[in-house]
Amino acid sequence: MRFIVDQQVEDIELPENLKLNTFLQEFHSDCLHPECGFGYYGFAFGQSPFPVPKAVQTALIKNADKGAYAPVAGIPELRETISKYNKYYFQMDVDPQRIYVGPGTKELIFNLLEVLHGTVILPTPAWLGYLPQIRLLKKNFHMLPARSNGKISPNELRKLALRLHDKQKILILNNPHNPTGVVYNKLELEEIADVCREQGICIISDEIYAQTTYDFSKFVSMGKIYPEGTFVTNGLSKSHAAGGYRLGYVIFPQHALEVRKQFKKILATEYTAVSTPIQHAAVAGFEVSRELDEYFEITRNIHHLVGDYTYHALCSIDGIKATKPEATFYLLADFNFYSDELQKLKINTSQKLSESLILHPYHTAIVGGDSLVLERTDYRARIAFVDYNGAKVYENYQNQKPKTHSERIEFVKNNAPKVVAGIKMIETFFGNLQNETKIIEKTKESMQVAI
Ligand SMILES: Cc1ncc(COP(=O)(O)O)c(C=O)c1O
Repeated sequence: MRFIVDQQVEDIELPENLKLNTFLQEFHSDCLHPECGFGYYGFAFGQSPFPVPKAVQTALIKNADKGAYAPVAGIPELRETISKYNKYYFQMDVDPQRIYVGPGTKELIFNLLEVLHGTVILPTPAWLGYLPQIRLLKKNFHMLPARSNGKISPNELRKLALRLHDKQKILILNNPHNPTGVVYNKLELEEIADVCREQGICIISDEIYAQTTYDFSKFVSMGKIYPEGTFVTNGLSKSHAAGGYRLGYVIFPQHALEVRKQFKKILATEYTAVSTPIQHAAVAGFEVSRELDEYFEITRNIHHLVGDYTYHALCSIDGIKATKPEATFYLLADFNFYSDELQKLKINTSQKLSESLILHPYHTAIVGGDSLVLERTDYRARIAFVDYNGAKVYENYQNQKPKTHSERIEFVKNNAPKVVAGIKMIETFFGNLQNETKIIEKTKESMQVAI
């Protein structure tokens, strides 16, 4: 029997992690060089490397007997705890009734896009997760390219909104931002919120990286600035290094009772409720405690250390620019300086660039620009700086916090040697690229002389 798959499913891209897995397997396993047994320099995967906090693990084990279905929106104690967590960390007063729990924020964002009418405004570059969802739901959408600082301009947002004729528009704002690592400040959020109020735009504010903001006092939730129009999503995946738990939540805007009712129908139709033991584990994850506070502080400090190192090391390579991360474990590197050389060697898309970097002798995995909703020929790429043993590095940091500039660099060199070596490999790649193009040019010249 030949099965026929729906066209809209055929048309969407494989999600980033699956695409990368296949890609790395294909390109890496073929390497015959014995010295490449170490694997590859992993700048591609967006996963926090730290252990899941002990309290969360213990709560999961303790609640393994909870076999009953949970209420659709989540168990009351979890919604209550998330409300207190938001008060403590983000200074938001949120009635637990406004909080719904789902199997990861990815699913919740999809559900919001299912429920909300209107054209989607997608700032680019963007996390790869959004676009296939928009396509699958056949929603109208418009890209909104960010400025060179990685952030969208309120004026550009207004101009775009004026061209759209839906009564309601949906802006997907990812703050802190994957892939650039940049964070919007309060004033920038206020300016965006003003445009949204004026133009009938509601916001899905994906704040999954909020807790990783290096200077945590600088993070402001859009839920605080524009409470009547923002759907805030967050969860356990990045802050608690627990992507595999599949636990996210959405905070609905104030006075959005009708949308909440419709949303509940969608959740009940699609997945009934999140796994009950996971919800109990999440209670421990969102309960404010000294231990968890320390965990957040240490993990964000380590992201900061490695992020600073990666940024400076990349920017010290001739021609390479990068965004300076203020949160997350990513930055966006810009290799466009080398576009002539890359084109000459027929590396004519960012996808081809990531493929060339994974081959021997480089073995370096990055995410090319076309996976970040950029033009295929834009040689920018996401660098995730988490290729180290999180448990060990966490312990080392606890034992000896680096203070001075040189101690911080030493710490990264000792604790994240693959990050350090991987950046060196990127430098070698571009150095070789220049040499190879020079050779090609010389050969061409001598052939012309010969003719
Ligand atoms: C920007 C962004 N939003 C959402 C997600 C998905 O989070 P979750 O694991 O809660 O579905 C990711 C995961 O990489 C992400 O980078």
